[in-house]
Amino acid sequence: MTLNPLPSQEKFPFSLPELPYTKDALNPHITESTLNYHHGKHHQAYVTNLNNLVKGTELEGKTLEEIIMLAKADSTKAGIFNNAAQIWNHTFYWHCMKPGGGGMPTGKLMDMIVRDFGSFDAFKEQFKQAGVTQFGSGWAWLVLEGDKLKITKTPNADLPMAHNQRALITMDVWEHAYYLDYQNRRPDYLAIFLDHLVNWDFANKNLNM
Ligand SMILES: [Fe+2]
Repeated sequence: MTLNPLPSQEKFPFSLPELPYTKDALNPHITESTLNYHHGKHHQAYVTNLNNLVKGTELEGKTLEEIIMLAKADSTKAGIFNNAAQIWNHTFYWHCMKPGGGGMPTGKLMDMIVRDFGSFDAFKEQFKQAGVTQFGSGWAWLVLEGDKLKITKTPNADLPMAHNQRALITMDVWEHAYYLDYQNRRPDYLAIFLDHLVNWDFANKNLNM
């Protein structure tokens, strides 16, 4: 099973990818101000940090995915893993939202959600619960494991490809993702994400790759 739905041949020096929409496109659910900080400062910082950590090392010739997997297996490379995985997570997360998103998926993904969770409403509740109960910083995910869908949550920078799973959708639950717009109301941000932002076409594409 292919684990990485966003394959890239990019190597050092890494650069900040463009957002797949304009900075005001997710208004009023996620404001331009949040995206300015989240993309322009936080995501950029992971790129800058990784370039500083990789420069002059044997990792200069490796792709982002190769760096993530190598660093995950080496406890002396935790800083490299955290920055590399956060670059991947954020690039993936931007595609998980779109203006006018939300609603219900279609096609094979909807069939599998009903098969594996019972109903779309049951899935929504479990997905929100994963986001609410991730203590501190982290991510909530819908993943493909083998031929089954699963909802998971990961702390900090951890991500599905390190657990033999393929990411289909993620929700960033670090405070920096929602604090300017929702302050401490993480559950409100999670509900808005599912009702107005989530990009099910992207999830279907990841499922069918
Ligand atoms: Fe983030």
